[in-house]
Amino acid sequence: MQEVQTVVEEAERALEAAPDGETLEAWRVTWLGKSGRMTLLVRSIGELPKDERSEAGKTINIARGTLQRAYEARKEALEGAARALLLERERIDPTLPGAPIPLGNRHPIAAVMQEIRSIFQEMGFGEAHGPEVETDEINFEMLNIPKDHPARDMWDTFYTTHGHVLRTHTSPVQVHVMRACAPEPVKVICPGRVFRYEQVTARSESMFHQVEGLEIGPHVTMRDLLGVLQAFARRMFGDVRNIRVRNSFFPFTEPSIEVDVDCFNCEAKGCSICKHTGWIEILGAGMVHPVVLENGGYDSKAVTGLAFGLGVERIAMLRYRIEDIRHFYRNDLRFLRQFQSA
Ligand code: FA5
Repeated sequence: MQEVQTVVEEAERALEAAPDGETLEAWRVTWLGKSGRMTLLVRSIGELPKDERSEAGKTINIARGTLQRAYEARKEALEGAARALLLERERIDPTLPGAPIPLGNRHPIAAVMQEIRSIFQEMGFGEAHGPEVETDEINFEMLNIPKDHPARDMWDTFYTTHGHVLRTHTSPVQVHVMRACAPEPVKVICPGRVFRYEQVTARSESMFHQVEGLEIGPHVTMRDLLGVLQAFARRMFGDVRNIRVRNSFFPFTEPSIEVDVDCFNCEAKGCSICKHTGWIEILGAGMVHPVVLENGGYDSKAVTGLAFGLGVERIAMLRYRIEDIRHFYRNDLRFLRQFQSA
């Protein structure tokens, strides 16, 4: 009995000291295993006098039961502690601020393009689109610019194959729209990219954007054209910039005008951006030439039309005071990041 008591006490001390699962398993083998201390005690019962065996058996069984329960309790405690440690390590704090996600922003040309579209939308213009690769016929001939006509010099052209060109302006979309709508009245803008085989300078790119405007109906007049352009300029530039309208020439309009805005860089005094004139040209316009109306399927005696084509990059330069058009397409993040809120 004394020996059993000693074994139990020794085992309990060792159990309390077991710090982890591995030591606990070693403890189980030492004390409760097949050749463990308790098993040895059971085996030693046979060596006792017969009348003591039964009592000794009971005592050892109770002791073994005590150690078994102590072992299980310790095992559970250690496993619980391990789980708690794991949970603690995986703990997340939902109140922490999230990791910042870098946001992109719209390219200044996309932003200005959107602004232009909204302005015309509010004035009741719909929207139409045409292809960037055009036939020579639609880009030039239908717009009253015959082959070998000197007016072709106004547009330095990229020719592709089989009589096709990269459209030099958005005016050919006028022809598509007229053919689709004649003889009904129309009022649309046609935004898009255009291409010119041109020397790139601070004011001129070989790829840029235009927004064409076209309105055809029985009573469309020059006064309507000036009204639309003035309303647009006021909305786009406010009262800060002055505008001037000049006589001009385009084969597809008669009469033709051009609109300039005074130079933001030199306040109209003259600098390299405005070619020392004090003015930056933003659009060409006019009343649609009767020949073009007829080419588009309209009766030029029954309807008249106004048309304009504005340069989006030039407007963006004025809007954001950008002194060189080449900045737009250099993909320099230092430049583009300045338009975060555009
Ligand atoms: C035209 O392209 C005519 N189709 C405009 C038009 C439409 C006239 C309808 C009458 C009726 P122009 O070549 O001037 O015209 O170009 C129009 C505008 O595009 C110019 O005022 C200018 O703002 C812009 N632009 C012209 N060339 C360039 C260039 N190389 N780089 C950037 N913008 C340009």
